[in-house]
Amino acid sequence: MAAALELRGVGVRFGTFDAVDGVSLSVHAGEVVGLIGPNGAGKTVTFNVITGLQPPTRGQVLLGGVDVTKTAAHTRTAMGLARTFQVVQLFAGMSVLENLMVAAHRFTHAGVVTDALRLPGRRRSLDSARERASAVLAFLGLAHLADVEVSSLPVGQARLVELARALCLKPKVLLLDEPASGLDPVETHDFVALLAEVRATLGCAMLLVEHDMGVVMPLCDHLVVMNFGRVLAEGTPTEVRDDPEVKTAYLGAAV
Ligand SMILES: Nc1ncnc2c1ncn2[C@@H]1O[C@H](COP(=O)(O)OP(=O)(O)OP(=O)(O)O)[C@@H](O)[C@H]1O
Ligand SMILES: [Mg+2]
Repeated sequence: MAAALELRGVGVRFGTFDAVDGVSLSVHAGEVVGLIGPNGAGKTVTFNVITGLQPPTRGQVLLGGVDVTKTAAHTRTAMGLARTFQVVQLFAGMSVLENLMVAAHRFTHAGVVTDALRLPGRRRSLDSARERASAVLAFLGLAHLADVEVSSLPVGQARLVELARALCLKPKVLLLDEPASGLDPVETHDFVALLAEVRATLGCAMLLVEHDMGVVMPLCDHLVVMNFGRVLAEGTPTEVRDDPEVKTAYLGAAV
């Protein structure tokens, strides 16, 4: 079966600088792949190529075997690609539930025309968006936050809400960019358990960028290590952890 997500020789060049330099990787349904590496290695740029925010200079991106390299970002979202951001990006001035409904509404979407003309389908679509958003909040144990305005949330909860919003899209592929950054050790521990549950329940493919090896090691089936835009090493978490080159380039500093 085709991988849920596949990169083939992806490169991104800014001027004369190769931020991403020939990266290939694949993530299958139900699998969690960790993308790790030092600051500036090209992890976030790679995410941006996958979501369509950054056109690659070369290479291909495939979702479920379909080449989406030239496909618009919102079409990729509709194909089941969701992400969270390195710096939390929620819609300020809106409640938690409203933030989720924007995503859920897109998924259940009756259509922009129905919306604009306020046709009856719009109400049905909003109702099902509310239902989906509430179900996701309940699943993540966040129902009590539904009416809270997002700007007043501490970072730990804001990160969970961002995850919830991504889950409202019923993702087939979920990209998480440093989801545990800013969390305290207890929150991090809970977050790992939650992600394990998400993976068991949803069975989506996950690509996880994370510096905290306490998050990466228990969650990931496979690790890809980037350095200077390239894949330096890959393998099981233990193989990668014990790789001398990885230790020198990254983990030596991190551990
Ligand atoms: N739009 C851009 N123009 C020029 N250079 C860029 C641009 N975006 C990113 N870069 C550079 O590309 C390199 C890779 O950046 P990227 O954000 O992918 O790193 P990262 O692996 O996510 O690092 P971190 O762990 O710090 O988040 C960096 O040197 C960065 O400065
Ligand atoms: Mg980054």
